[in-house]
Amino acid sequence: MDEVRQNTLRIRDGVEENSLDWFEELYSTANGNEYWIPWSNGEPHHFLIEWVSKTKSRGRALVVGCGLGEDAAYLSQNGWIVTAFDISSSAVHWARKNYSSENIDWQVADLLSLPEDWIGLFDLVVEVHILQAIPEPIRILSAPNMAPLLAPSGQLICIGRLNEKEEEYEGPPWPLSRDFIDSVGADLKNVDFIKKQLPNDDPDVIRYLSVWKREI
Ligand SMILES: C[S@@+](CC[C@H](N)C(=O)[O-])C[C@H]1O[C@@H](n2cnc3c(N)ncnc32)[C@H](O)[C@@H]1O
Repeated sequence: MDEVRQNTLRIRDGVEENSLDWFEELYSTANGNEYWIPWSNGEPHHFLIEWVSKTKSRGRALVVGCGLGEDAAYLSQNGWIVTAFDISSSAVHWARKNYSSENIDWQVADLLSLPEDWIGLFDLVVEVHILQAIPEPIRILSAPNMAPLLAPSGQLICIGRLNEKEEEYEGPPWPLSRDFIDSVGADLKNVDFIKKQLPNDDPDVIRYLSVWKREI
């Protein structure tokens, strides 16, 4: 077992046993009723829709932590060849059923230990509300695993909530600091950073979309 993986298991055990298991418990308990999935409104994320409308890029896309599959389906409907994964097998089963007419490669996988043959494979990697939903020690180990998945000229998109005032949150979610967000694409070129609110947001909710490009 390599050092990173050993470390991961040590930290996961030390912090909170099975601290990601609640996702599977939630999806399986919801048993097909979307009402019980607080982050799902049946729509792709507004920021992703805006980004897709502005780009001519197409190719292979990977959706990280796809949940019920709205973002994956949207990319597929807009010409991307999509792989989508989640740590929860119930979520993946549900997403596949929701979008059975889309030609999407649905996978159960953990951002902490991804298949090696995904390295360098994708023209687009998208993460919506994943990093902010997982505890910090696991987040720190998971976040660097996305950039290496990009093919040359590939783009990485992260969407979530911004913690501008360095406040303490009893998450999930844990809004992320700008420094942490920047570290996710440290070896890439940042090509866009948008900060804004959605129409129904509370005044203290600030959202971000960050886009990086692999140059070589
Ligand atoms: C807040 S939800 C967001 C789901 C979806 N992206 C959306 O916006 O509706 C977080 C998702 O990340 C998944 N997840 C958490 N940790 C993960 C990991 N290590 N690897 C893959 N998926 C993970 C959860 O099962 C859950 O579906």
